[in-house]
Amino acid sequence: MREIIGIMACDQHYVISNKGELPWDCPEEIAFYRSMIKSQIVIMGYKTYEQMPPHFFEEHTVVVFSKKHRDHLNPLVTIVSSLDEFYQLKNLPIDKQCFMIGGAEIATLFLENMAIDCFYLSEIEGHYPGDVFFPIHLISQYQRIVHLTGSCFKVYEYRNLKG
Ligand SMILES: NC(=O)c1ccc[n+]([C@@H]2O[C@H](COP(=O)([O-])OP(=O)(O)OC[C@H]3O[C@@H](n4cnc5c(N)ncnc54)[C@H](OP(=O)(O)O)[C@@H]3O)[C@@H](O)[C@H]2O)c1
Repeated sequence: MREIIGIMACDQHYVISNKGELPWDCPEEIAFYRSMIKSQIVIMGYKTYEQMPPHFFEEHTVVVFSKKHRDHLNPLVTIVSSLDEFYQLKNLPIDKQCFMIGGAEIATLFLENMAIDCFYLSEIEGHYPGDVFFPIHLISQYQRIVHLTGSCFKVYEYRNLKG
């Protein structure tokens, strides 16, 4: 089975979003994220899909998880309603990496099913208001190393050594 890499950002209380937006302003972290997923396969939940600008779907191979909105998506997007359906996809380019980019529900689905090999979690310095949180308890037993240190964030690389 192909490797799936998680990549998301949170603050020091694991906030990932507030009222549908990132609550911090950290262009350097966005640049890191964009460089990692550039032209690659990205997997996301429907709520995250709704917030993506149209050009994102032309620049990436996008897979969206949804049970309720199967018929209402951008034609450039592949839609699946379960992990089993995702694993059965035959048309994903083999020369590209596969990134799970969130949100919290889809991260939880992948982590609970041990479907992530490596997770890059950027931790933004400080505490921000938030209404969606990263499920940090699901990777608390993983090995963690610092992958990169930026001016206002650190990227931690988590690996499940038992997986
Ligand atoms: N900081 C970050 O790194 C980061 C990254 C990504 C997103 N975000 C933020 O996170 C927020 C969204 O996160 P979220 O957790 O609320 O939503 P989400 O994970 O983006 O999407 C949730 C949706 O995914 C579908 N879904 C969930 N479980 C499923 C399953 N087992 N099978 C098939 N489909 C499933 C459902 O869609 P249907 O209702 O259509 O069935 C559900 O409503 C947004 O505000 C976004 O900005 C932050």
